[in-house]
Amino acid sequence: MNIKLENITKIYNPKTDFSVQALSDVSLTINQGDYIALMGVSGSGKSTLLNIIGCLDRATTGRYTIDGEILDRFDVFDIRNRLVGFVLQSIGLLPDKTVLENVSYPLLVSKDVPFAKIKKYALYALKRVGISELADRRAGRISGGQRQRAAIARAIVGNPEVILADEPTAALDSKTAEDIMELFRQLNGEGRTVVIVTHDRRVAKKCNKIYYISDGQLTDGGAEDKAQ
Ligand SMILES: Nc1ncnc2c1ncn2[C@@H]1O[C@H](COP(=O)(O)OP(=O)(O)OP(=O)(O)O)[C@@H](O)[C@H]1O
Ligand SMILES: [Mg+2]
Repeated sequence: MNIKLENITKIYNPKTDFSVQALSDVSLTINQGDYIALMGVSGSGKSTLLNIIGCLDRATTGRYTIDGEILDRFDVFDIRNRLVGFVLQSIGLLPDKTVLENVSYPLLVSKDVPFAKIKKYALYALKRVGISELADRRAGRISGGQRQRAAIARAIVGNPEVILADEPTAALDSKTAEDIMELFRQLNGEGRTVVIVTHDRRVAKKCNKIYYISDGQLTDGGAEDKAQ
């Protein structure tokens, strides 16, 4: 699916003393199969933009279309649960549940997959990220790199067309970070769209296109980066 943002603005707590303009006039087209890095300093608006791309949050003003269609409320649930896989900045695993239960969770919520098949799909997602042996371990008792892999497994378990990852390599050593980037490369090679938020230029360089965001404004770094 092709996602198009036109003149998107996001203001948190509008018309209050705490109002924050997080995005100003952002226009961006994401085509199926793109592999995009989104870079910018802390507070520049990266997570806000990713959340709007994946319909976790709504823009204050501007136009958001998928394959040319403006969304209605019913589509949004479908997009979040079936079409888009999120790897969140906070990871967000339930520490007292097993890795397998955590990864199964999106399928349980979406009700798209028959109950009998959920375990099989979740085990397959764990195999893809290389942590099958941790299926029965509680998520609170695995390492940071393993948690990041589990979060990616949870994002891909529903076979999404689009994967959005917020700082997926931030807390990892360089070898583990490379393995994770290799995994995203494979997922992109299957035709999935991948958008990665990162501070790390080495990570960004592995993507096919880099966008920079500064004070809520987007600039296209794609041409500049290819020239280097
Ligand atoms: N829920 C919120 N309520 C109010 N302001 C917010 C909220 N979330 C983010 N902001 C503000 O919006 C701006 C952009 O935040 P955002 O989280 O998108 O930045 P970021 O680029 O992802 O930063 P980081 O690299 O630290 O994760 C910041 O000024 C931030 O303080
Ligand atoms: Mg962020």
